[in-house]
Amino acid sequence: MKIRNVKGLTFDDVLLLPKRSSIASRKDVDSGTMLSEGIRLKIPIVSANMDTVTESSMAIALAREGGLGVIHRFMTIEQQVKQVEKVKRAEGFIIENPYSIEAEYPISQALMMMRSRGVGGLMVTDSRGDLAGIVTHRDVAMALETTAPVSSVMTPLKKMIYARPGISPEEAKVLLHEHRLEKLPVVDVDGRLIGLITAQDVLKREHHPQASKDGRERLRVGAAVGVGESELERATALAAAGTDVLVLDIAHGHADHCIRMVEKIHKAIPELQIIAGNVASGDGAVELARAGANGIKVGIGPGSICTTRIVTGFGVPQLTAIMDSVAGLKAAGLGKVPVIADGGIKTSGDMVKALAAGASSVMIGSLFAGCDEAPGLPVIRDGQKVKVVRGMASLGAAIGRKAVGNNLISDDESAESQEDWAKVVPEGVEAVVPYRGNVSEIIYQLVGGLRSGLSYGGAHNITELQENAEFIEITPAGIRESNYHDVGKL
Ligand code: XMP
Repeated sequence: MKIRNVKGLTFDDVLLLPKRSSIASRKDVDSGTMLSEGIRLKIPIVSANMDTVTESSMAIALAREGGLGVIHRFMTIEQQVKQVEKVKRAEGFIIENPYSIEAEYPISQALMMMRSRGVGGLMVTDSRGDLAGIVTHRDVAMALETTAPVSSVMTPLKKMIYARPGISPEEAKVLLHEHRLEKLPVVDVDGRLIGLITAQDVLKREHHPQASKDGRERLRVGAAVGVGESELERATALAAAGTDVLVLDIAHGHADHCIRMVEKIHKAIPELQIIAGNVASGDGAVELARAGANGIKVGIGPGSICTTRIVTGFGVPQLTAIMDSVAGLKAAGLGKVPVIADGGIKTSGDMVKALAAGASSVMIGSLFAGCDEAPGLPVIRDGQKVKVVRGMASLGAAIGRKAVGNNLISDDESAESQEDWAKVVPEGVEAVVPYRGNVSEIIYQLVGGLRSGLSYGGAHNITELQENAEFIEITPAGIRESNYHDVGKL
């Protein structure tokens, strides 16, 4: 047995010392960062792979803001793949494989397809798959004879405006505007339908210039995988669906089965970025990086809904966990492998401290769980609008997983033991958080706080913040002084 002769520190234990600054405006700083060795983000914010935080809506919103969402894994492989595909189709300058229908199909079929896919128009193809026309909701909604073929109400190809492959966003915008179009199909010289450009997507591009995009102009997305038997199959299916980064996420990532799984995924899909965790030590971070991880997720028990430290007695206060992991990676010559600080972020100040301590990005759970984009609807509790958040190792989450046939509570419990819920030992709780509206508003505040923080740190970017950072430990009186005090609540 040994006891470490230093105190473990977390965000509230410290403040950053203000540094001389040459920054005149918050606009003069760069919030960009590396999420993993191969993925750059415009903002250092990632949403947690929790079933009350990130499915496609949250991932789309995060990517549009310049961050990234990680789709949780507590659903079937097919469901998770669909979630990833939704993000990948959400925008993109040219939508590949746009929804289409054959010209001879009945109008009723077109109506059904538009409804089920949530689109206002379909490409119409002939029996060879060549573009024959376009049909919009307006064309079919009023049709009296819904058994008539789609060809009877479509706008035929000869009357359509379409584009050729290679068209630029600027050229597409001109065509869409000149002809007052909503949809512009892309057709090759042989008449084959290559894709679709929509007015909505062209405008979204302009509204979200900072969006996280892949090489094909689609929004970036991450997806979580575990270490169970079927997880390599899950990883392969997610990669095929276009996932940008796999997040191998288990409660205790510094474990043989996690290291082996990183190696397996790396070998099977070497081109794909892998983030692995969670760890809270230099050794843990280094072993996962050596196994092939391109980013390390750090945090054992700091999360708002976590009870791991209470239940097991294990954990490291988060600021120290970040510093130890980053120092370990640097000492092992792996300093280019970014660390993601996962859990315990309550304010923009916490995020600035996590980044100053060496993390390249932060993962956020409960702060986002109250947003519209998180799964689930708000409810009224004691007159307040709230949403539910639950730890992924809580009893409720375990029961929910059983319902979708994925009965892992933690990654080493046998399925047998879960037949009896009384034997489950939860390491998380279910709770409520205030309803918080659109996630973009929270991100605006977080990024505003970061920009201001960079300026206090005399730093033009996150790397300079880390180089300049000097923490000071504070006392309970210092914590009290840091919050607003001696005034009444309005
Ligand atoms: P925040 O504080 O942002 O933390 O809500 C989110 C992170 O918490 C972790 N997590 C858990 N940890 N038991 C734990 O000990 C759990 O049941 C649990 N569920 C989530 C996870 O790392 C997440 O990103």
